[in-house]
Amino acid sequence: MSELLEKARNYEEKAEKQISPDDRPVFHFTPRTGWMNDPNGLSFYQGKVHLFYQYYPYEAKWNAMHWGHAVSSDLVSWDYLPAAMAPDEPYDSFGCFSGSAIELDDGRHLILYTGVHPKKAKSGFEMLQTQCLAVGDGLNYEKYEGNPVITGKDVPEGFSQTDFRDPKIFRQIDSSYGCVIGNRSDDGSGALLLFESEEGFSWHFRSILDRCRNEYGTMWECPDFFFLDGQAVIITSPMEMKQKDLEFYDGAGTICLIGSLDEKEKKFIRQSVRTIDHGLDFYAPQTFEMPDGRRIMIGWMQSWASCFVPEDHRWFGQMTIPRELSIRDGRLIQSPVREIESLHEKKVHYENIAAGEEEVELSGVRGRVMDLNVTIRDDEETSCESFVLCFAKDNQHECRVIFSPENSVLTIDRSKAGFTQDFVHVRSCRVQKQSGRLNLRILLDRYSSEIFVNEGEQVLTMTYYSPGEADRITFEARGKAHIDVTAFTLRTGQKEILRRD
Ligand code: FRU
Repeated sequence: MSELLEKARNYEEKAEKQISPDDRPVFHFTPRTGWMNDPNGLSFYQGKVHLFYQYYPYEAKWNAMHWGHAVSSDLVSWDYLPAAMAPDEPYDSFGCFSGSAIELDDGRHLILYTGVHPKKAKSGFEMLQTQCLAVGDGLNYEKYEGNPVITGKDVPEGFSQTDFRDPKIFRQIDSSYGCVIGNRSDDGSGALLLFESEEGFSWHFRSILDRCRNEYGTMWECPDFFFLDGQAVIITSPMEMKQKDLEFYDGAGTICLIGSLDEKEKKFIRQSVRTIDHGLDFYAPQTFEMPDGRRIMIGWMQSWASCFVPEDHRWFGQMTIPRELSIRDGRLIQSPVREIESLHEKKVHYENIAAGEEEVELSGVRGRVMDLNVTIRDDEETSCESFVLCFAKDNQHECRVIFSPENSVLTIDRSKAGFTQDFVHVRSCRVQKQSGRLNLRILLDRYSSEIFVNEGEQVLTMTYYSPGEADRITFEARGKAHIDVTAFTLRTGQKEILRRD
């Protein structure tokens, strides 16, 4: 093991003990210590789900990227394993950037990642990005002596060698390996390159799977490619998107392309392009397949534009709850993994509650950790300009979810959630009532909310770091709305934060 990796492993073991479980979310994954961004290497290997992550253990700030590592048997609780990789080779001295993992035929675990290193160029230094391998047993990984296995020389003309990262490996129908890699083409916009390999170690360029010709962002990061419910799906995280119609937003976004694959040319044929998560904190999602066939996606529950590290936090970065994916009516549907139900504790249920100008609070519906289901009815008595649900609320703080039936717009607003920085705090998207109703399933977990609209047709995710005592949940409306509410408290395994009252 290299000195750098040993140092990281020793450090994280000690540093982890200084973080109380009470200061972490309950069922959302956080780094063992220090900084975390993208999920990497998601895979089911030797009976467990493996989650690696972009990791800088020594500080809650982005710096020389290591790979952190954890495993789970139930997708809602995770065990930390020692860091898997450190930037300890000349070809990855600037960082081991994002990548993926797969099981080889001989049972070894193969990691394919981007090694970044500086190279002298006319104008100072250039960061070269090449694709590298590491092979392991689920605990320890050795970098391949033939690294890097894909370099700028393999990139077709007109595509970048410095924006060339985040390989996602998968098995093709004929059981050979394929991988998609994010790129920026000469027209300055995002593209995906497809490479192929017989055995996972020697690779050749196959095709430009898709490119956006300036329509969806400047660089496509963290791509994924898979088949789901009979369709081909690309997921990617474009940088510098332009806003459009409450569907796409300025800045770094995440998009899902649904279509089919021209098998001969290996070209993606698009049918639809949509945002994956309409919230404020969601980026770089990656998927994998469970043995029962479920396609599961985990995203980084943060955004580069709003990395706010609370002063006393020794960790930064959360992952979303793993989400089960499917396709319904040509749309990507996301639902929290069913395993979350194993955390359900006390249930309360209310029907036909009238919410009006005065805020309503319901007994048993209070807290920062909850699986909350709210249906806004559309009956004769309901006629409102807007319906407002507040959570993480006390006298000074609140997060708001606002539904305006007139224009069918759903808005999240965390501008009073304790941030001391003025980045984007409000976001809206268009939603559709189903049989006249709008259903919101809201997963609350201390510092975050994931809002699944109409059984996962749309999702809005955001984080906030207001004090845990801000735990009231209220309902109100301009006009009159009728709602049904089901709430489960969740088993925290820890002492819940004591309330003041
Ligand atoms: C996306 C990203 C990746 C890169 C990694 C570096 O969030 O920029 O493209 O591999 O983060 O940490």
